[in-house]
Amino acid sequence: MPNSTRPMRLGLLFHAILLTGITANVEANTPPVMLTSPKDFIYPDVDLGLSESLYPNEATTAKEIANIIEMTIRKQYATDIALRDAHPKAHGCVRAEFKINETLPQNMAYGVFIPGKTYQAWIRFSNGSSNAKQADIKKDARGMAIKLLAVPEKNLLDEPAATQDFIMINHPVFFANDPARYLSFMQDINSDRFLKKLHVPFALGAKGTWIALNTRNKISNPLQTRYWSMVPYQLGVGTHRQAVKYSARACSSVVSPIPATPQKDFLRAALRTTLQDRDACMEFLVQPRTSSSMSVEDSMTEWKEDQAPFYKVATIRIPQQVFDTTEQNKFCENLSFTPWHALAEHKPLGAINRMRKVIYDQISRVRHEMNSAKQTNSNNVEDQ
Ligand code: HEM
Repeated sequence: MPNSTRPMRLGLLFHAILLTGITANVEANTPPVMLTSPKDFIYPDVDLGLSESLYPNEATTAKEIANIIEMTIRKQYATDIALRDAHPKAHGCVRAEFKINETLPQNMAYGVFIPGKTYQAWIRFSNGSSNAKQADIKKDARGMAIKLLAVPEKNLLDEPAATQDFIMINHPVFFANDPARYLSFMQDINSDRFLKKLHVPFALGAKGTWIALNTRNKISNPLQTRYWSMVPYQLGVGTHRQAVKYSARACSSVVSPIPATPQKDFLRAALRTTLQDRDACMEFLVQPRTSSSMSVEDSMTEWKEDQAPFYKVATIRIPQQVFDTTEQNKFCENLSFTPWHALAEHKPLGAINRMRKVIYDQISRVRHEMNSAKQTNSNNVEDQ
């Protein structure tokens, strides 16, 4: 395989610097080409009122990071189905209902948070590692990406099928704030030179390295861990707008044990077995910032819950279902989630989120183009 000698991509997982390449083994892809539909992006404006501030050369850095990831994907998946660069291993995409509380405090009732409204949604559960073949028992970050369908307004990307996405990982903070450091980290992990890989902790710094290591964890069921947005979002528009973070957790605190002899994909099996028997329930929470000392640019520092409590705004019902079918898994691969699938009332904030506008768009378009697949936010598996 052409990728067998190239270093594995880390995504969130700096520990993988010690591993070698991966060998994917799926049907052949179209040959790598440059994006046939490059898109000029207007880099997001900063909201000084919510204390956002641009880093030097931020937009250029975002583009450089996107280009590194694009090159990696083109090389890694030259003859295979191209997967996501981060979170390529899905445990499944499940249908869900996202029901907003019947009553909400006035300072929460913005955007999609319309009291009493129920949205149909897709939720994709994933592992963070860029190695889609990694066994679930290995420590990793776990992702939960929610896509609300048929939201009332166009989203910030002005796409025809308006969706509101909430993207979360099961750790409260992200390992980087600073675009230049993130770029240096990407250059290090994508280098073929071992010494460059040893430089990763210097690129991330002590705090970033510590967070990267602590983001890795073991779980027994994707429905039983807690997820956080890590980075902030606006809630509301105009003078009432505020900065918030999101979180989601199971309605019940019961946690199953990790199997004694776990199968490679036991998290998919746990999801399948749970939803075969019964509905699952999760809560969606919003954490308004309570002090301007809680930075919107510093995604490495937690807004402590005892100073800024979370409030439940919605209940997520994941009905009993069969999700693990060939059609639905393919549909899941072709979905695109981005923080910028957001109504203006939920605009992403902070440098990491601003860069994600450029990066997620480019990478999603590259992998869809490589696979000759249609990018979709559609409601229906059958539309594929
Ligand atoms: C500059 C920082 C980041 C970069 C470069 C980055 C990069 C990426 C890329 C390229 C993808 C795949 C997109 C696609 O092909 O559709 C992705 C997916 C994802 N990212 Fe990030 N990411 C960053 C920050 C974050 C943060 C802060 C979170 C925290 C919640 C996060 C959570 C996820 C999740 C859960 C997915 C999978 C979404 C899905 O299921 O499709 N990422 N990321």
